[in-house]
Amino acid sequence: MSIFRPVTLITGASAGIGRSLAKVFAAHGHEVALIARREDPLQDLAREIAAAGGRAHVVPVDLARADAPARISHELLSRGLEPAVVVNNAGFGLFGPAHELDRGEQLAMIELNVRTLTDMSLRWIDSLGRHGGGILNVASMAAFAPGPNMAVYYATKAFVLSFSEALHRELAEKNVRVTVVCPGPVKTEFQARAGMSDGMTRSLLAQPADRVAEEAYRGFAAGKRLVIPGFANKVAALLPRLAPRSLVLSSARKWQKRATPKPEGWPRRTQQKA
Ligand SMILES: NC(=O)c1ccc[n+]([C@@H]2O[C@H](COP(=O)([O-])OP(=O)(O)OC[C@H]3O[C@@H](n4cnc5c(N)ncnc54)[C@H](OP(=O)(O)O)[C@@H]3O)[C@@H](O)[C@H]2O)c1
Repeated sequence: MSIFRPVTLITGASAGIGRSLAKVFAAHGHEVALIARREDPLQDLAREIAAAGGRAHVVPVDLARADAPARISHELLSRGLEPAVVVNNAGFGLFGPAHELDRGEQLAMIELNVRTLTDMSLRWIDSLGRHGGGILNVASMAAFAPGPNMAVYYATKAFVLSFSEALHRELAEKNVRVTVVCPGPVKTEFQARAGMSDGMTRSLLAQPADRVAEEAYRGFAAGKRLVIPGFANKVAALLPRLAPRSLVLSSARKWQKRATPKPEGWPRRTQQKA
């Protein structure tokens, strides 16, 4: 028996998929801790959750900092809370050839998408087990293939998938469920942050954030190892596992072309006749 109240941590709750995940967990009765850097959107979301009868705490933190998980622990303790569920959703990508993109930014992506996610997954295992909770990690369809033009991003998501599936097996005996969700394209702030067009979000594989969050929640609640939202994505995820690697690479490269930003001044205006 713990004297602390169980809470569900949701990283990257200020926008996109994380915001939707926070609303879904809160709607299912979870007291949630909303984590991201921007405090205003977190406060807005906390008010929205409270208005719907839920409980939400705002924890503004930069997760790229090595001391972020320790600061979150401290913050929760001071509010009489301990993690029952950890949703590692915060992440970003960068579009372009790895040798042309900023090296420091790509390393910062590894810090957030990989190091912080690993720390946050391993830090509170006892507490997660005590409350019969678990971990929901957000990977991507990018986890299934190498991704020329987003090489580091795809590699970080391959890590998230591999790590989470292994944890699923390891932590079963500790009463901690682990689910990894691999969404296809979702129209969020992700595309602008990555410097890509929203071409992929108009494809058959695209889904709204709310639907991804619903499906992820249901899979997690059912104790699934892997959730791939949407039928088209389930089929698409099979191909890289069956096709030769060289074909997977050239298909991934073609797919990435959809995300190429339009040149300056696009769409071009037709000249007005005098
Ligand atoms: N959108 C897609 O097409 C897609 C597809 C598959 C997987 N995913 C994955 O889904 C997850 C969520 O992406 P999204 O599409 O919802 O992107 P988004 O709209 O850009 O949201 C990203 C969230 O992460 C937070 N974040 C970023 N850097 C942070 C940092 N250093 N410290 C704390 N929080 C940070 C952002 O909040 P602040 O800026 O306020 O810090 C924001 O809340 C990511 O892991 C992404 O890789 C996205």
